[in-house]
Amino acid sequence: MRDRHTGEPPRAAPPPEAGSLRESVADYVALLASSGLWVVGDPAASREDGAREAPSAGARALRADEPARPSIAAATVAAAFPATPGSAPDLFTPSLLDGTPSTLAEIREQLGECTRCKLSRGRTHIVFGEGNPKAEILFIGEGPGEEEDRQARPFVGRAGQLLTKIIRDGMKLRREDVYIANIVKCRPPGNREPERDEVAACGPFLMQQIRAIGPRVIVTLGRPSTSTLLGRAVQITRVRGVWHDFHGIPLMPTYHPAFVLRQYTEKTRREVWEDMKQVLQRVGRAI
Ligand code: URA
Repeated sequence: MRDRHTGEPPRAAPPPEAGSLRESVADYVALLASSGLWVVGDPAASREDGAREAPSAGARALRADEPARPSIAAATVAAAFPATPGSAPDLFTPSLLDGTPSTLAEIREQLGECTRCKLSRGRTHIVFGEGNPKAEILFIGEGPGEEEDRQARPFVGRAGQLLTKIIRDGMKLRREDVYIANIVKCRPPGNREPERDEVAACGPFLMQQIRAIGPRVIVTLGRPSTSTLLGRAVQITRVRGVWHDFHGIPLMPTYHPAFVLRQYTEKTRREVWEDMKQVLQRVGRAI
């Protein structure tokens, strides 16, 4: 199993051998990638870096650098796709990038009272996303939690309050200046990560939102959203702070705010702030 918070395999895991193993891993990963949007490391793994506020009973927070039990899939996928900037394969169908973008209102209308995936059965509200429809900075999280589901607004629980604080007090922006969305728009039950079919059902709508907004920078919050947009399983501790590319849009992965809440250390907070400084620089804003 991967580290619940970071998705990392144990640091001591031996590197895969070059040659045939690498080829078969690459084939396996290509198969996964071609069959959906989501490259899973360990389907049994629970949600990682804190998309939910309250850990389940008996759960405990792990340190970001704490080794976890081995995950062959996560280790081999990570080896096959080293975290190099600008290496994002096509994740969403390229045709969605072509043509005239719909407005956010049109996309919301197309979404309707969506029942395209099983998450619809447990939701109270669809959490479409909110903010400046022409935001320079687009934050993408994992999926609505309990409070978000209740209010139909993204990032309004405890983690959301921290994100708001980062935006307002750290970046000196208003929440209304940026746009905030998630990779799925309905709350996953039992605090679990969104599953591949759910991400696949919601992905085209997120892609259309990205096109409509046309952000200068995307910030992915945590491993699931980063892995989804990059189309490969990542370890957030390795990719955060490094610029990536999403169909020509600079993408900065950083920690999920709920992970920061649980790991409220000087180091974690400093790293998030360093990531946000890079984002501000990229959009030409004063730090
Ligand atoms: N966590 C997320 O990933 N998204 C939200 O909207 C709230 C919590």
